[in-house]
Amino acid sequence: MKKNFYITTPIYYASGRLHIGSSSTTLLCDSLKRYKKSMGYDTRFMTGLDEHGQKVEKKAALKGLSPQEFTDRLAKNAKDLWKYLDCDYDYFVRTTDENHMKQVQEVFEKMLEKGDIYLGSYDGLYCVECETFFSQSEVGEEKLCPDCGRPVQIVKEPSYFFKLSKYQNRLLDFINSHPSFIQPEGKKNEVVAFIKQGLQDLSVSRSTFKWGIPIKSDPKHVVYVWLDALFNYLTALGFLEEDKSLYEKYWLNSEVVHVVAKDILRFHAIFWPIFLMSIDVPLNFQLFAHNWVLMYGDKMSKSKGNVIFPKTFVEKYGVDAFRYYMLREFPVLSDTVCTPEDFISRYNTDLVNDYGNLVSRSISMASKYFDSKVKRIEDNNEFILDLRKTTLETIKLYHEDMNSFRVDKALADINKLVSRTNKLIDETMPWALYKEGKMEELQAVIYALLDAIRVETTLYTPFLVNSSSIVFKSLGLNSQQEIIDLKPYEVDEYNVVPLEQPIFPREKDPKVAVSEIVESMAYELTVEA
Ligand code: MSP
Repeated sequence: MKKNFYITTPIYYASGRLHIGSSSTTLLCDSLKRYKKSMGYDTRFMTGLDEHGQKVEKKAALKGLSPQEFTDRLAKNAKDLWKYLDCDYDYFVRTTDENHMKQVQEVFEKMLEKGDIYLGSYDGLYCVECETFFSQSEVGEEKLCPDCGRPVQIVKEPSYFFKLSKYQNRLLDFINSHPSFIQPEGKKNEVVAFIKQGLQDLSVSRSTFKWGIPIKSDPKHVVYVWLDALFNYLTALGFLEEDKSLYEKYWLNSEVVHVVAKDILRFHAIFWPIFLMSIDVPLNFQLFAHNWVLMYGDKMSKSKGNVIFPKTFVEKYGVDAFRYYMLREFPVLSDTVCTPEDFISRYNTDLVNDYGNLVSRSISMASKYFDSKVKRIEDNNEFILDLRKTTLETIKLYHEDMNSFRVDKALADINKLVSRTNKLIDETMPWALYKEGKMEELQAVIYALLDAIRVETTLYTPFLVNSSSIVFKSLGLNSQQEIIDLKPYEVDEYNVVPLEQPIFPREKDPKVAVSEIVESMAYELTVEA
C-alpha cells in the first residue's frame, strides 16, 4: 500500500500582498511534496488564508470594503501567486469556508463540555498586527509589541479562557518522548524552555468586534483568531464531518508536517497540541520551524519599503531561477539576507555557468562526436569511477537532506555533483580523445556526462520544475523522471536532441540587472493588494 504524506503551510493572513518571505515557505512545501510524490507517496499539500480577526477587519475598513469582499480579493491574489510560482497545492483552505466555521464551532463546544474553557474577563494588552495577547512585562514601559514593535492596545472585555496549564506536563512528556516532533533541535529547546516557565490560561474569544466565528452557545463572542486558524489543518480534511476519509488517510495514517517560521512556532508547538489533547485527536504531526528571509538585513515590511515581490525576479529570469534561489538560500538555522546582487550572482554561477553549461556542452559533444546516439559503456577510467562514486554518495545525502526538510543542503549537494561532473570534462579532454581517435574512451566519458546530468536533473525536479523536463527531453528521455530507485548507469542509450536555446541565458550585465530589480521593487511596492 502507498504511504501518505500531508504537508501544510501556515495559512497566511488575508491582510496584504504576499511577498518573497511567505513564498519561501510555500515553495519549501511544494518542493517537499514533489519529492515525496516522486518517491511513490500519496501526497496532499495544503495552503490557504487566515481571514478572520481584528487585523483583517481593520485593513478591509481602510480600503472601504467589507471584510468578506477584501478577503475574497486576497484569496484570489494568493491562488494566482501560487499558480504563477508553479506551486502544486491540492487544497486551498479559507477560514471563512462554511465547513471550516461549522467544525470550529463544534470544537469550541467540545472544549467547553470537557471543562477546558471557562468564562472570565480579559484585562490586558493585545497586538492587533500579531493577533497576540501579551503580559505587562513582555511589552515593557513603552507598551510596544515584543514581536513587531508596534504599540499594543489595552483590551478589557468578557472573554473565554482555555486552561493551558492543565496540559503543561502532558505536553512536556510528549515532546520528550517524540524527539522529532519539533525540528530543528535548537527550536525544540526554545519551546521546552518556554513551557517550563509555566503556561498562563489563554484568552480564546473576543467580544468587542464581530469579524470572526461566533461561539454557538454564546454568539456575543467570536472565537480567538488563532484557535480558529490552527484548526484549518483538520477542518480541511473534514475531521468532524460525516465523510472522514481524508482525515483517516492524511491524518490518522500519514506522515504530517506543518511548516512554519519561528515567529509562529509557539502557537504550533504549544497551543495546537494542547487543543488536540483537549478534544482527543492524536498528535500525529511534526513541526519544521524555519527562520526568516530578510531584505538587506531587515525583516521585510511595506512601511520600510524593503519588500520584494516574486514578480520582480520571475518576470525576467523565470520561475525556476526564483524557486532555485529561494530554496538554495532557504533560512533554516539562521535568517538569510536576500539581495538582488546575490540573486544575480547565484543565477550566473550555479544555473548558467555550472549546470546550464554542463548540459549544453555535453549534449553538443554527444551530437558532434556520436551523431546524437550514445550507448552505455563501462570503463575503468579513474575519473569516471570517481564521478560514479560521488553520484552514489550524492543520492544518499540528498535523501537524508530531503527527509529532514533541508532543501538548502540538498541543492548544495547536487551542485557539488555538478562541479564534479564539469571537472570530468577538464580531466578527460574529450576533444583530444576525439582527435586521437580514441572513440571507446570518448564514448565512456560522454555517456558518464549524460548519465550524471540525468541523475542531477532528476534530483533537481522538485525545484527546477520546468527546465528539468526540457533537459530530460534533450537527453531523449520522458519529460518526467521519478526519484524513487534512481541509480547511475541504468539507461542503455541516450538519443540526444540539441537544445534550441540555453536553459538559463547568461545575465551579461549584472550591475544594470541589479538596478532594474531595484526599480521593479519600487514599482511593485505601489501595486495595491
Ligand atoms: N495567520 C498566521 C498563521 C496561522 S497558521 C494556523 C500568520 N500569518 S502570516 O501571514 O503572518 O504568515 C506567517 C508565515 O509566513 C510565517 O510563519 C512564514 O511561514 C511566512 N513568512 C512571512 N514572512 C516571512 C519572511 N520574511 N521569511 C520567511 N517566512 C516568512 O502568522
